[in-house]
Amino acid sequence: MEVINKGKVVSVTEAVVEVEYLTEPTPKLREVLTLERDPSVKLQVMKSSDKARFYCLGLSKITSIRRGDAVVSTGGPLKIPVGVEILGRVMNVFGEAKDGMGDIKYDKLAPVFNDSPSYADTVADLKFLETGIKIVDLYAPLVQGGKVGLFGGSGVGKTMLLTEILHNVINKDPQNNVSVFCGVGERSREGHELFNELKDTNVLSSVSLVFGAMGESPATRFLTAFAGASVAEYFRDDYGKNVLFFVDNIFRFAQAGSELSLLMNNIPSEDGYQATLNSEMASVHERLVAKNGKSVTAIEAIYLPEDDLFDPAAQTVFGYLDSSIVLSRDAYREGRLPAVDIIQSDSDALNPHNVTPKHYYVATASKSLLKKAELLERIVSLVGESELSDEDRTLYQRARKIRNYMTQNFYVASIQTGRLGTYVTVDKTVEGVKNIMDGNYDDVPEDKFMNIGSIDEINSK
Ligand SMILES: Nc1ncnc2c1ncn2[C@@H]1O[C@H](COP(=O)(O)OP(=O)(O)OP(=O)(O)O)[C@@H](O)[C@H]1O
Ligand SMILES: [Mg+2]
Repeated sequence: MEVINKGKVVSVTEAVVEVEYLTEPTPKLREVLTLERDPSVKLQVMKSSDKARFYCLGLSKITSIRRGDAVVSTGGPLKIPVGVEILGRVMNVFGEAKDGMGDIKYDKLAPVFNDSPSYADTVADLKFLETGIKIVDLYAPLVQGGKVGLFGGSGVGKTMLLTEILHNVINKDPQNNVSVFCGVGERSREGHELFNELKDTNVLSSVSLVFGAMGESPATRFLTAFAGASVAEYFRDDYGKNVLFFVDNIFRFAQAGSELSLLMNNIPSEDGYQATLNSEMASVHERLVAKNGKSVTAIEAIYLPEDDLFDPAAQTVFGYLDSSIVLSRDAYREGRLPAVDIIQSDSDALNPHNVTPKHYYVATASKSLLKKAELLERIVSLVGESELSDEDRTLYQRARKIRNYMTQNFYVASIQTGRLGTYVTVDKTVEGVKNIMDGNYDDVPEDKFMNIGSIDEINSK
Protein backbone atom coordinates (compact mmCIF):
# COMPACT_ATOMS: atom_id res chain seq x y z
CA MET A 1 0.00 0.00 0.00
CA GLU A 2 1.24 3.45 -0.89
CA VAL A 3 1.94 5.62 2.10
CA ILE A 4 0.87 9.21 1.62
CA ASN A 5 3.48 11.44 3.07
CA LYS A 6 2.21 14.58 4.72
CA GLY A 7 3.82 17.92 5.35
CA LYS A 8 2.77 20.70 7.64
CA VAL A 9 2.30 24.40 7.07
CA VAL A 10 4.77 26.31 9.24
CA SER A 11 4.19 29.86 8.04
CA VAL A 12 1.91 31.81 5.72
CA THR A 13 2.54 35.25 4.29
CA GLU A 14 0.50 37.07 1.65
CA ALA A 15 1.55 34.88 -1.26
CA VAL A 16 4.08 32.42 0.09
CA VAL A 17 3.51 29.36 2.25
CA GLU A 18 6.30 27.51 4.00
CA VAL A 19 5.79 23.80 4.59
CA GLU A 20 7.82 21.27 6.51
CA TYR A 21 8.25 17.56 5.80
CA LEU A 22 9.56 15.57 8.73
CA THR A 23 9.84 12.29 6.81
CA GLU A 24 10.99 11.27 3.33
CA PRO A 25 10.02 11.55 0.53
CA THR A 26 10.08 15.33 0.46
CA PRO A 27 8.35 17.10 -2.43
CA LYS A 28 10.20 18.03 -5.62
CA LEU A 29 10.50 21.50 -7.08
CA ARG A 30 7.41 22.50 -9.13
CA GLU A 31 5.33 19.76 -7.53
CA VAL A 32 1.79 20.81 -6.63
CA LEU A 33 0.62 20.28 -3.04
CA THR A 34 -2.90 20.62 -1.70
CA LEU A 35 -4.39 20.94 1.75
CA GLU A 36 -5.51 17.61 3.11
CA ARG A 37 -8.80 19.15 4.23
CA ASP A 38 -9.37 21.19 1.06
CA PRO A 39 -8.05 19.91 -2.30
CA SER A 40 -9.14 23.12 -4.06
CA VAL A 41 -6.22 24.90 -2.41
CA LYS A 42 -3.14 24.45 -4.57
CA LEU A 43 0.47 25.28 -3.78
CA GLN A 44 3.48 24.96 -6.02
CA VAL A 45 6.86 24.12 -4.51
CA MET A 46 9.28 26.87 -5.51
CA LYS A 47 12.44 26.35 -3.48
CA SER A 48 13.72 24.71 -0.35
CA SER A 49 14.53 26.83 2.66
CA ASP A 50 16.40 24.00 4.33
CA LYS A 51 16.49 20.23 3.88
CA ALA A 52 13.00 19.69 5.20
CA ARG A 53 11.34 23.03 4.56
CA PHE A 54 9.96 24.39 1.31
CA TYR A 55 8.65 27.71 0.11
CA CYS A 56 5.49 27.31 -1.93
CA LEU A 57 3.43 29.72 -3.97
CA GLY A 58 -0.32 29.77 -3.87
CA LEU A 59 -1.78 28.83 -7.24
CA SER A 60 -5.23 29.38 -5.78
CA LYS A 61 -6.42 31.69 -3.00
CA ILE A 62 -4.46 30.86 0.13
CA THR A 63 -6.30 33.02 2.64
CA SER A 64 -7.88 29.95 4.27
CA ILE A 65 -4.54 28.31 5.05
CA ARG A 66 -3.54 28.14 8.72
CA ARG A 67 -0.32 27.20 10.47
CA GLY A 68 -0.33 23.50 11.23
CA ASP A 69 -2.54 22.53 8.23
CA ALA A 70 -1.55 19.19 6.72
CA VAL A 71 -0.46 19.25 3.07
CA VAL A 72 -0.27 16.33 0.64
CA SER A 73 1.31 16.06 -2.78
CA THR A 74 -0.69 15.66 -5.98
CA GLY A 75 2.24 13.66 -7.32
CA GLY A 76 3.66 16.10 -9.84
CA PRO A 77 3.48 19.53 -11.39
CA LEU A 78 0.29 21.24 -12.52
CA LYS A 79 -1.50 19.44 -15.35
CA ILE A 80 -3.68 20.84 -18.11
CA PRO A 81 -6.43 19.08 -20.09
CA VAL A 82 -5.52 18.16 -23.68
CA GLY A 83 -7.43 16.40 -26.43
CA VAL A 84 -9.26 17.22 -29.66
CA GLU A 85 -12.13 18.43 -27.50
CA ILE A 86 -10.14 21.49 -26.46
CA LEU A 87 -10.24 22.79 -30.02
CA GLY A 88 -12.69 25.66 -30.16
CA ARG A 89 -12.43 26.15 -26.40
CA VAL A 90 -10.96 28.76 -24.07
CA MET A 91 -9.52 27.64 -20.74
CA ASN A 92 -7.21 28.86 -18.04
CA VAL A 93 -4.15 27.11 -16.72
CA PHE A 94 -6.29 25.12 -14.28
CA GLY A 95 -8.36 23.67 -17.12
CA GLU A 96 -11.40 25.75 -16.22
CA ALA A 97 -13.60 26.84 -19.12
CA LYS A 98 -13.48 30.58 -19.82
CA ASP A 99 -15.89 30.65 -22.75
CA GLY A 100 -19.15 29.92 -20.96
CA MET A 101 -19.64 26.72 -22.95
CA GLY A 102 -19.60 24.23 -20.09
CA ASP A 103 -16.85 22.03 -18.69
CA ILE A 104 -13.78 21.30 -20.75
CA LYS A 105 -13.84 17.72 -22.03
CA TYR A 106 -10.47 16.14 -22.59
CA ASP A 107 -8.50 13.09 -23.51
CA LYS A 108 -5.81 13.27 -20.85
CA LEU A 109 -3.98 15.62 -18.52
CA ALA A 110 -0.55 16.85 -19.59
CA PRO A 111 1.98 18.34 -17.16
CA VAL A 112 2.63 22.00 -17.88
CA PHE A 113 6.36 21.44 -17.43
CA ASN A 114 8.07 19.16 -19.87
CA ASP A 115 11.53 18.57 -21.25
CA SER A 116 12.33 19.76 -24.73
CA PRO A 117 12.90 17.05 -27.35
CA SER A 118 16.43 15.70 -26.98
CA TYR A 119 17.15 16.63 -30.56
CA ALA A 120 15.32 19.23 -32.55
CA ASP A 121 14.06 17.72 -35.78
CA THR A 122 15.15 19.91 -38.59
CA VAL A 123 12.17 20.34 -40.80
CA ALA A 124 14.07 20.17 -44.08
CA ASP A 125 11.56 22.07 -46.09
CA LEU A 126 11.14 25.50 -44.53
CA LYS A 127 8.15 26.39 -46.62
CA PHE A 128 7.33 30.08 -47.06
CA LEU A 129 4.14 30.89 -45.18
CA GLU A 130 2.26 33.70 -46.92
CA THR A 131 0.42 36.08 -44.61
CA GLY A 132 -1.07 38.35 -47.26
CA ILE A 133 0.37 41.29 -45.34
CA LYS A 134 2.66 43.07 -47.79
CA ILE A 135 5.22 44.43 -45.38
CA VAL A 136 5.57 41.10 -43.55
CA ASP A 137 5.75 38.86 -46.61
CA LEU A 138 8.26 41.08 -48.40
CA TYR A 139 10.68 42.09 -45.63
CA ALA A 140 10.23 39.62 -42.79
CA PRO A 141 8.77 36.50 -44.41
CA LEU A 142 7.49 33.70 -42.19
CA VAL A 143 8.38 30.10 -42.80
CA GLN A 144 6.58 27.08 -41.48
CA GLY A 145 8.41 25.94 -38.37
CA GLY A 146 9.95 29.39 -37.91
CA LYS A 147 9.69 31.75 -34.97
CA VAL A 148 8.72 35.35 -35.46
CA GLY A 149 8.70 38.13 -32.89
CA LEU A 150 6.54 41.25 -33.14
CA PHE A 151 8.29 43.90 -31.06
CA GLY A 152 6.81 47.21 -30.03
CA GLY A 153 6.13 49.65 -27.21
CA SER A 154 2.67 50.12 -25.81
CA GLY A 155 -0.21 50.66 -28.20
CA VAL A 156 1.68 50.60 -31.51
CA GLY A 157 -0.22 47.65 -32.98
CA LYS A 158 1.33 44.36 -31.77
CA THR A 159 -1.99 42.71 -31.01
CA MET A 160 -3.55 43.96 -34.26
CA LEU A 161 -0.69 42.59 -36.33
CA LEU A 162 -0.65 39.28 -34.46
CA THR A 163 -4.38 38.77 -34.89
CA GLU A 164 -4.29 39.79 -38.55
CA ILE A 165 -1.58 37.17 -39.17
CA LEU A 166 -3.71 34.65 -37.28
CA HIS A 167 -6.79 35.62 -39.27
CA ASN A 168 -4.94 35.22 -42.57
CA VAL A 169 -3.00 32.01 -41.94
CA ILE A 170 -5.28 30.02 -39.68
CA ASN A 171 -7.29 28.49 -42.47
CA LYS A 172 -4.42 27.82 -44.85
CA ASP A 173 -4.19 24.08 -44.49
CA PRO A 174 -6.95 22.89 -42.16
CA GLN A 175 -6.11 19.22 -42.84
CA ASN A 176 -2.61 19.57 -41.44
CA ASN A 177 -2.64 22.61 -39.18
CA VAL A 178 -4.11 23.52 -35.85
CA SER A 179 -3.53 26.70 -33.88
CA VAL A 180 -2.93 27.46 -30.25
CA PHE A 181 -3.44 30.94 -28.85
CA CYS A 182 -1.78 31.67 -25.57
CA GLY A 183 -2.80 34.91 -23.86
CA VAL A 184 -0.33 35.93 -21.17
CA GLY A 185 -0.81 38.97 -18.98
CA GLU A 186 -2.87 41.06 -21.42
CA ARG A 187 -6.42 42.43 -21.16
CA SER A 188 -9.13 39.80 -20.80
CA ARG A 189 -11.40 41.96 -22.99
CA GLU A 190 -9.04 41.26 -25.89
CA GLY A 191 -9.44 37.56 -25.26
CA HIS A 192 -13.21 37.84 -25.59
CA GLU A 193 -12.89 39.89 -28.74
CA LEU A 194 -10.58 37.33 -30.27
CA PHE A 195 -12.91 34.48 -29.33
CA ASN A 196 -15.86 36.24 -30.98
CA GLU A 197 -13.82 37.12 -34.03
CA LEU A 198 -12.78 33.47 -34.46
CA LYS A 199 -16.36 32.35 -33.99
CA ASP A 200 -17.74 34.86 -36.47
CA THR A 201 -15.23 33.83 -39.13
CA ASN A 202 -15.91 30.11 -38.59
CA VAL A 203 -12.34 29.18 -37.72
CA LEU A 204 -12.82 28.65 -34.00
CA SER A 205 -12.90 24.86 -34.39
CA SER A 206 -9.23 24.76 -35.38
CA VAL A 207 -7.95 26.85 -32.44
CA SER A 208 -7.42 26.13 -28.81
CA LEU A 209 -7.03 29.09 -26.46
CA VAL A 210 -5.30 29.29 -23.09
CA PHE A 211 -5.53 32.51 -21.11
CA GLY A 212 -3.91 33.99 -18.02
CA ALA A 213 -4.88 37.65 -18.16
CA MET A 214 -3.30 40.66 -16.46
CA GLY A 215 -5.44 40.49 -13.31
CA GLU A 216 -4.32 36.94 -12.51
CA SER A 217 -1.62 36.09 -10.00
CA PRO A 218 1.99 36.10 -11.24
CA ALA A 219 2.15 32.31 -10.81
CA THR A 220 -0.90 31.89 -13.05
CA ARG A 221 0.47 34.20 -15.72
CA PHE A 222 3.85 32.52 -15.58
CA LEU A 223 2.41 29.01 -15.90
CA THR A 224 0.10 29.96 -18.76
CA ALA A 225 3.01 30.14 -21.20
CA PHE A 226 4.08 26.63 -20.19
CA ALA A 227 0.51 25.36 -20.43
CA GLY A 228 0.31 26.76 -23.96
CA ALA A 229 3.46 24.83 -24.84
CA SER A 230 1.91 21.62 -23.46
CA VAL A 231 -1.17 22.11 -25.61
CA ALA A 232 1.05 22.71 -28.67
CA GLU A 233 3.03 19.54 -27.88
CA TYR A 234 -0.14 17.52 -27.65
CA PHE A 235 -1.34 18.60 -31.09
CA ARG A 236 2.13 18.04 -32.56
CA ASP A 237 2.88 14.65 -30.99
CA ASP A 238 -0.41 12.92 -30.22
CA TYR A 239 -2.53 14.46 -32.94
CA GLY A 240 0.25 14.65 -35.58
CA LYS A 241 -0.43 18.17 -36.80
CA ASN A 242 1.68 21.16 -37.66
CA VAL A 243 1.00 23.75 -35.01
CA LEU A 244 0.72 27.51 -35.29
CA PHE A 245 1.47 28.91 -31.86
CA PHE A 246 0.48 32.50 -31.09
CA VAL A 247 1.40 34.24 -27.89
CA ASP A 248 0.42 37.70 -26.69
CA ASN A 249 2.54 38.69 -24.82
CA ILE A 250 5.77 36.85 -24.06
CA PHE A 251 7.14 39.91 -22.25
CA ARG A 252 4.42 39.38 -19.64
CA PHE A 253 5.82 35.90 -19.07
CA ALA A 254 9.25 37.40 -18.33
CA GLN A 255 7.59 39.95 -16.08
CA ALA A 256 5.59 37.33 -14.18
CA GLY A 257 8.82 35.39 -13.64
CA SER A 258 10.36 38.52 -12.22
CA GLU A 259 7.45 39.03 -9.82
CA LEU A 260 7.73 35.42 -8.66
CA SER A 261 11.43 35.82 -8.11
CA LEU A 262 10.82 38.87 -5.90
CA LEU A 263 8.15 37.04 -3.93
CA MET A 264 10.70 34.29 -3.31
CA ASN A 265 13.20 36.90 -2.14
CA ASN A 266 15.67 35.98 -4.86
CA ILE A 267 18.28 38.61 -5.63
CA PRO A 268 17.68 40.09 -9.08
CA SER A 269 20.53 40.50 -11.55
CA GLU A 270 22.04 43.89 -12.30
CA ASP A 271 19.51 44.76 -15.02
CA GLY A 272 16.65 44.36 -12.52
CA TYR A 273 15.32 41.13 -14.01
CA GLN A 274 15.41 37.74 -12.33
CA ALA A 275 18.71 35.87 -12.62
CA THR A 276 16.76 32.95 -14.11
CA LEU A 277 15.29 34.97 -17.02
CA ASN A 278 17.38 33.22 -19.66
CA SER A 279 16.66 29.73 -18.49
CA GLU A 280 12.95 30.47 -18.11
CA MET A 281 12.76 31.81 -21.65
CA ALA A 282 14.68 28.75 -22.86
CA SER A 283 12.38 26.32 -21.08
CA VAL A 284 9.39 27.60 -23.05
CA HIS A 285 11.05 28.17 -26.43
CA GLU A 286 13.02 24.94 -26.57
CA ARG A 287 9.73 23.04 -26.40
CA LEU A 288 8.25 24.93 -29.35
CA VAL A 289 10.25 23.02 -31.94
CA ALA A 290 9.63 20.37 -34.57
CA LYS A 291 9.36 16.69 -33.68
CA ASN A 292 8.79 13.63 -35.84
CA GLY A 293 8.41 15.78 -38.93
CA LYS A 294 5.70 17.99 -37.43
CA SER A 295 6.51 21.65 -36.99
CA VAL A 296 5.63 24.36 -34.53
CA THR A 297 5.50 27.84 -36.02
CA ALA A 298 5.53 30.50 -33.32
CA ILE A 299 4.32 34.06 -33.65
CA GLU A 300 5.03 36.07 -30.52
CA ALA A 301 4.18 39.61 -29.50
CA ILE A 302 6.89 41.22 -27.36
CA TYR A 303 6.17 44.39 -25.46
CA LEU A 304 9.08 46.83 -25.25
CA PRO A 305 9.12 48.91 -22.05
CA GLU A 306 9.77 52.53 -23.04
CA ASP A 307 10.03 51.42 -26.69
CA ASP A 308 13.46 50.01 -25.86
CA LEU A 309 14.55 47.23 -28.18
CA PHE A 310 17.49 46.61 -25.88
CA ASP A 311 15.34 45.75 -22.91
CA PRO A 312 16.89 42.59 -21.40
CA ALA A 313 13.61 40.65 -21.57
CA ALA A 314 13.22 41.43 -25.27
CA GLN A 315 16.86 40.57 -25.86
CA THR A 316 16.49 37.09 -24.38
CA VAL A 317 13.78 36.32 -26.94
CA PHE A 318 15.88 37.36 -29.96
CA GLY A 319 18.03 34.24 -29.83
CA TYR A 320 15.05 31.99 -30.55
CA LEU A 321 13.67 33.94 -33.47
CA ASP A 322 14.09 33.55 -37.20
CA SER A 323 12.25 36.77 -37.96
CA SER A 324 11.85 39.98 -36.04
CA ILE A 325 9.27 42.55 -36.96
CA VAL A 326 9.77 45.86 -35.18
CA LEU A 327 6.90 48.30 -34.81
CA SER A 328 7.75 51.98 -34.78
CA ARG A 329 6.05 54.73 -32.83
CA ASP A 330 6.96 57.28 -35.51
CA ALA A 331 5.23 55.29 -38.22
CA TYR A 332 2.25 54.81 -35.90
CA ARG A 333 1.99 58.56 -35.23
CA GLU A 334 2.16 59.28 -38.95
CA GLY A 335 -0.74 56.88 -39.46
CA ARG A 336 1.26 54.45 -41.54
CA LEU A 337 -0.31 51.14 -40.48
CA PRO A 338 0.83 48.48 -39.85
CA ALA A 339 3.53 50.61 -38.24
CA VAL A 340 6.41 48.31 -39.14
CA ASP A 341 9.92 49.72 -39.19
CA ILE A 342 11.22 48.10 -42.38
CA ILE A 343 14.87 48.88 -41.75
CA GLN A 344 14.90 47.37 -38.27
CA SER A 345 12.89 44.30 -39.26
CA ASP A 346 14.58 41.21 -40.62
CA SER A 347 14.21 37.52 -41.28
CA ASP A 348 16.60 34.62 -41.77
CA ALA A 349 14.06 33.33 -44.27
CA LEU A 350 14.80 36.26 -46.54
CA ASN A 351 17.24 34.30 -48.68
CA PRO A 352 17.07 32.90 -52.21
CA HIS A 353 16.28 29.39 -50.92
CA ASN A 354 13.16 30.22 -48.92
CA VAL A 355 11.79 32.90 -51.24
CA THR A 356 12.02 33.36 -55.00
CA PRO A 357 15.19 35.03 -56.33
CA LYS A 358 13.01 37.91 -57.55
CA HIS A 359 11.48 38.38 -54.10
CA TYR A 360 14.94 38.30 -52.53
CA TYR A 361 16.31 40.82 -54.99
CA VAL A 362 13.36 43.21 -54.71
CA ALA A 363 13.38 43.06 -50.90
CA THR A 364 17.10 43.76 -50.53
CA ALA A 365 17.25 46.39 -53.28
CA SER A 366 14.23 48.26 -51.96
CA LYS A 367 15.52 48.10 -48.41
CA SER A 368 18.77 49.78 -49.50
CA LEU A 369 16.71 52.35 -51.34
CA LEU A 370 14.73 53.02 -48.15
CA LYS A 371 17.97 53.38 -46.18
CA LYS A 372 19.31 55.88 -48.69
CA ALA A 373 16.03 57.79 -48.58
CA GLU A 374 16.34 58.03 -44.82
CA LEU A 375 19.60 59.96 -45.26
CA LEU A 376 18.07 62.13 -47.98
CA GLU A 377 15.13 62.83 -45.68
CA ARG A 378 17.46 64.81 -43.41
CA ILE A 379 18.58 67.01 -46.29
CA VAL A 380 14.98 67.48 -47.38
CA SER A 381 13.89 68.49 -43.89
CA LEU A 382 16.65 71.12 -43.76
CA VAL A 383 16.63 72.62 -47.25
CA GLY A 384 13.67 71.10 -49.08
CA GLU A 385 13.26 68.53 -51.81
CA SER A 386 14.17 70.98 -54.56
CA GLU A 387 17.79 71.01 -53.38
CA LEU A 388 18.25 67.32 -54.20
CA SER A 389 19.91 66.34 -57.45
CA ASP A 390 17.48 65.02 -60.08
CA GLU A 391 18.70 61.50 -59.52
CA ASP A 392 18.36 61.71 -55.74
CA ARG A 393 14.93 63.28 -55.97
CA THR A 394 13.71 60.41 -58.14
CA LEU A 395 15.07 57.84 -55.67
CA TYR A 396 13.62 59.75 -52.74
CA GLN A 397 10.16 59.87 -54.28
CA ARG A 398 10.20 56.20 -55.25
CA ALA A 399 11.20 55.28 -51.69
CA ARG A 400 8.26 57.25 -50.31
CA LYS A 401 5.91 55.47 -52.68
CA ILE A 402 7.24 52.09 -51.55
CA ARG A 403 6.78 53.10 -47.93
CA ASN A 404 3.20 54.16 -48.63
CA TYR A 405 2.51 51.04 -50.66
CA MET A 406 3.46 49.02 -47.56
CA THR A 407 0.47 50.41 -45.65
CA GLN A 408 -2.57 48.17 -45.73
CA ASN A 409 -6.04 47.83 -44.26
CA PHE A 410 -6.53 44.94 -41.84
CA TYR A 411 -9.53 42.65 -41.65
CA VAL A 412 -9.30 42.63 -37.87
CA ALA A 413 -9.30 46.45 -37.74
CA SER A 414 -12.21 46.97 -40.11
CA ILE A 415 -14.61 47.85 -37.31
CA GLN A 416 -12.28 50.62 -36.13
CA THR A 417 -11.24 51.90 -39.55
CA GLY A 418 -14.51 51.36 -41.40
CA ARG A 419 -12.46 49.94 -44.28
CA LEU A 420 -12.38 46.33 -45.40
CA GLY A 421 -9.18 44.37 -45.02
CA THR A 422 -7.10 43.20 -47.96
CA TYR A 423 -5.03 40.11 -48.60
CA VAL A 424 -2.23 40.62 -51.11
CA THR A 425 -0.32 37.68 -52.57
CA VAL A 426 3.43 37.95 -52.23
CA ASP A 427 3.83 37.92 -56.02
CA LYS A 428 1.68 41.04 -56.31
CA THR A 429 3.60 42.69 -53.45
CA VAL A 430 6.94 41.98 -55.12
CA GLU A 431 5.68 43.06 -58.53
CA GLY A 432 4.36 46.35 -57.17
CA VAL A 433 7.60 47.28 -55.44
CA LYS A 434 9.66 46.27 -58.46
CA ASN A 435 7.54 48.47 -60.71
CA ILE A 436 7.87 51.43 -58.36
CA MET A 437 11.67 50.94 -58.30
CA ASP A 438 11.77 50.63 -62.09
CA GLY A 439 10.07 54.00 -62.42
CA ASN A 440 6.79 52.70 -63.86
CA TYR A 441 4.81 54.77 -61.37
CA ASP A 442 6.91 57.93 -61.40
CA ASP A 443 3.94 60.00 -62.56
CA VAL A 444 1.53 58.68 -59.88
CA PRO A 445 1.38 60.91 -56.75
CA GLU A 446 2.65 59.24 -53.59
CA ASP A 447 -0.58 59.51 -51.61
CA LYS A 448 -2.30 57.24 -54.14
CA PHE A 449 -0.26 54.37 -52.67
CA MET A 450 -1.62 54.77 -49.13
CA ASN A 451 -3.79 51.99 -47.71
CA ILE A 452 -4.26 50.18 -50.96
CA GLY A 453 -4.13 46.42 -51.36
CA SER A 454 -2.43 45.17 -54.51
CA ILE A 455 -0.72 47.54 -56.95
CA ASP A 456 -3.49 46.69 -59.44
CA GLU A 457 -5.70 49.12 -57.55
CA ILE A 458 -3.58 51.90 -59.02
CA ASN A 459 -3.74 50.60 -62.57
CA SER A 460 -7.49 50.36 -62.40
CA LYS A 461 -7.97 53.86 -60.99
N1 LIG B 1 -2.92 47.91 -38.44
C1 LIG B 1 -3.78 48.69 -37.80
N2 LIG B 1 -4.89 49.15 -38.43
C2 LIG B 1 -5.76 49.95 -37.79
N3 LIG B 1 -5.63 50.35 -36.52
C3 LIG B 1 -4.55 49.94 -35.84
C4 LIG B 1 -3.58 49.09 -36.44
N4 LIG B 1 -2.62 48.85 -35.53
C5 LIG B 1 -2.98 49.51 -34.42
N5 LIG B 1 -4.14 50.17 -34.60
C6 LIG B 1 -4.83 51.02 -33.61
O1 LIG B 1 -4.01 51.16 -32.46
C7 LIG B 1 -4.64 50.58 -31.32
C8 LIG B 1 -3.60 49.83 -30.49
O2 LIG B 1 -3.20 48.68 -31.20
P1 LIG B 1 -2.84 47.32 -30.46
O3 LIG B 1 -3.82 47.05 -29.40
O4 LIG B 1 -2.63 46.29 -31.49
O5 LIG B 1 -1.45 47.76 -29.81
P2 LIG B 1 -0.51 46.91 -28.87
O6 LIG B 1 0.86 47.20 -29.31
O7 LIG B 1 -0.94 45.50 -28.82
O8 LIG B 1 -0.81 47.63 -27.47
P3 LIG B 1 -0.51 47.10 -25.97
O9 LIG B 1 0.93 47.41 -25.72
O10 LIG B 1 -1.41 47.93 -25.14
O11 LIG B 1 -0.81 45.66 -25.96
C9 LIG B 1 -5.74 49.70 -31.85
O12 LIG B 1 -6.81 49.59 -30.97
C10 LIG B 1 -6.12 50.40 -33.13
O13 LIG B 1 -7.03 51.42 -32.86
MG1 LIG C 1 -1.57 44.30 -27.26
